[in-house]
Formats: sequence, C-alpha cells, structure tokens
Amino acid sequence: MEILRTISSLQSFLQKCRKQQGVIGFVPTMGALHNGHLSLLTKSIQNNHYTICSIYINPKQFNNKADLASYPRTTRSDIEQLTRINCDALFLPSDSEMYQSDDVSVEYSFTNLFNTLEGEKRPGHFLGVVTIVHKLLNLVRPDKVYFGEKDYQQLRIIQLFVEKYNFPVEIVGCPTVRNSKGLALSSRNKNLKIDQEKAALHIVKALRKIKKDIIEFKRTRSKALLNGKDLVRLKHLAIKSIVENPLIKLDYFEIIESENFRFTDYIDYNKNYRALIAVYVGQIRLIDNISIN
Ligand code: PAJ
Repeated sequence: MEILRTISSLQSFLQKCRKQQGVIGFVPTMGALHNGHLSLLTKSIQNNHYTICSIYINPKQFNNKADLASYPRTTRSDIEQLTRINCDALFLPSDSEMYQSDDVSVEYSFTNLFNTLEGEKRPGHFLGVVTIVHKLLNLVRPDKVYFGEKDYQQLRIIQLFVEKYNFPVEIVGCPTVRNSKGLALSSRNKNLKIDQEKAALHIVKALRKIKKDIIEFKRTRSKALLNGKDLVRLKHLAIKSIVENPLIKLDYFEIIESENFRFTDYIDYNKNYRALIAVYVGQIRLIDNISIN
C-alpha cells in the first residue's frame, strides 16, 4: 500500500490510476479503524479498481477541544489493517496540508439538516465535515465515495451537498456494523471502560425497542396511524433504561421522517421513519440510529 502524506504525492498516484482508466473508490475516515470502517473499505475494494482511504482527524469538525484531544490515534495499527485488506493507498495528510492559514471559510447554509440534532448539539460540526469532505472530494475526484449509515445525518448531508454542488461522484451508503452484543462500532468506543461499554448497550436496546413497539402497535391495532400520545408513551418506554442508568445521560432521542428528515410526533404506517439517538457515557458521546419500517 502506498502511504501518501502530501497532496502532490496523492496527485501522482491518482495520475497513475487514471492512466490505466481505473475506477476509483474513496473512503474518508478519521482513523482508529475498526470493522465498521473496514466494511466500507472492503466494499470499495470489491467494486473499484483502486481504493484510497484517507485518515485525517479534522479539527474543524470538533466543537469540543477535549473530544479532539482524546480522539484515539492508532496510525500504526491502521496502516497494518489497511495493508492486510489490500487497500491501494492511504492519504495521511498533516493539518498544514489540508488547511492554509489564509483559507476562506465557505458558508454552506443550504439545508436545515445542518441545524438539527447533531447540528444543534454540536454547533459548527457539519460545517467542518462538509468543508473537509469538499476538499477531499476535490483532491481525490473518486468515482464512488463510501459513507456509513452509523452517522446517518452526516450521510444525508453529504448526499445533499454532492447533489447541490453537482459533484460527479456516486455516494454509497453502507449499513452500520455492530459488535456481537449490538453496540455500534465507533472509534470512540476505544475510550470506554468495561462498565461504560456495558451501559452503552442500552443505546441499541432503546432503538430496537422503539422499532419493535411501533411495528407491534400496528400488528395488534391494525391502524394506519399511531398518534402523538401513543408515540410519546412508546418513546418514554424505550429510553426508560437509559434515563434510569447513572452511567449514561441522554442527549436526544428523536424520530424523523426518512424522506425529508423532518421531526414527527406521530407515525403514518405508509411512510418510512428513522429513530436517532445520542448519549453521553461519562465524557464520551455516542450516536446511533435505526430505520423503522
Ligand atoms: P469516521 O468517524 O472515522 O468514520 C468514517 C466513515 O466510517 C463514516 O462514513 C462513518 O459513518 C463510517 N462508520 C463509522 N462507524 C461505522 C460503523 N459502525 N458501521 C458502518 N460505518 C461506520 O465520519 C467521519 O469519520 C468524518 O466525519 C469524515 C467523514 C471522515 C470527515 O472528517
């Protein structure tokens, strides 16, 4: 695997790929690679001639300095894993390679998706994500780029961004990879202590419960609608074990209409929905989501 630390070395690598008319798949990451990342990379390796992974911990998308400082950095094992799965190249830029001191800040205020849920709780986060993804897509110009459903709001924002700015790239959304107990894999899990990891299982339990209860409600009542009062009741039931657990603090638990990402306070069984959750386990913030239909 080639390790490319500069934009110019990346460009020479890409030139070689394009000379061979190679189809290029790209997987942007912030490293501390786990099987979730590897599932995106494996898909890309299977479906493209060349796969490029980037590892860059983008300071602009961290709204919390302590979170940036404690973000796991495991470059050596990341390189080993990428080599093992036959990734073709790793783009591993420094801060000065990605941002110039006189960079202009571009405003991307094209969507209210920016200001809800993760956007509301982490001000500036999505501006940082879109800024770096914009730069990376401009540099790599891949045919396909891979994102995980684990960060569902991020995936939707990038889909919108690419559409609005006419990027000639196909976005491939990939399902969330979980450990055997159901916890969604995340680089931040590396910072969880044993009792915290156990407590974090309530996240997926809450998601699976709301999904089961909503489906069950339809089966038993055979109604086309689940009204606001019933939905509030089911939401309370789903998060009960989180609210009662001293190791976890709920940040949000919301249900949105998948089609337009609008909050809903009732369920119309002809539509698709997604439940999204964020919690703090100690200082560590974890997010997850599940489709409901
Ligand atoms: P990072 O958190 O490293 O994630 C990189 C990619 O892996 C994202 O598309 C994310 O959704 C996906 N991913 C993470 N955990 C996953 C899991 N358990 N199952 C499936 N996919 C998973 O997301 C970022 O980095 C950054 O915001 C980035 C897009 C690289 C921009 O800096």
